[in-house]
Amino acid sequence: MGNIAIDGPAGAGKSTIAKIVAKKKGYIYVDTGAMYRAMALYMIREGIEATETDKIESACDKADISIKYENDEQVVTLNGENVNGLIRTEEVSNMASATSVNGKVREKLVALQQKLAKETDVVMDGRDIGTVVLPDAPCKIYLTASDDVRAKRRFDELTAKGVECDLNEIKKDIIERDCRDMNRAISPLKRAEDAVFLDSSNLTVDEVVNKIIEIAG
Ligand code: DC
Repeated sequence: MGNIAIDGPAGAGKSTIAKIVAKKKGYIYVDTGAMYRAMALYMIREGIEATETDKIESACDKADISIKYENDEQVVTLNGENVNGLIRTEEVSNMASATSVNGKVREKLVALQQKLAKETDVVMDGRDIGTVVLPDAPCKIYLTASDDVRAKRRFDELTAKGVECDLNEIKKDIIERDCRDMNRAISPLKRAEDAVFLDSSNLTVDEVVNKIIEIAG
């Protein structure tokens, strides 16, 4: 199978790039962060704190996360409800980062991701795709950009949606989230040994897409 694994820190442009690469290759795009976000939304709704390990683990049995595709778009459902429009807030971002350190949460979502990649060719993005989820993927990319560029991209994205936000706060949040994602005990974000390192700070979307298409062959 020609699966493409894209890992990297928050705001590196993974989902924008992965979506275009998937379209060009005729593959399915799988956004694994959305699954961790849907799980985090469930916990927020249940009033569970990021420190309550027992409650987080029992939530894994109660939150049914699944993925379907509508009009070429990935729809994440939480117990049957389409939650796509509810999982992009800073609150959910931070909760997803905090609860994804849990082994049971990861086990559940990794199994779902591996099942999807077995059924069809995918472009999958996340933090542990090249290292844990699809270690045999023939094409692995580690996509990053400077802290300032990543914060500015997130700021522009939120501003365009009409969300009022502060660039410095966003930068602080991103750095904190990266630090947690890179230093957790289970499946931390790191570059797989056989992943190609791509810094998108000074590249256009097209340039990054073309590089990945070239690498994937
Ligand atoms: O890619 P994202 O920003 O939507 O991901 C949200 C959080 O989910 C991220 O901070 C860490 C976690 N995550 C993970 O641990 N493993 C993945 N494969 C994808 C996301």
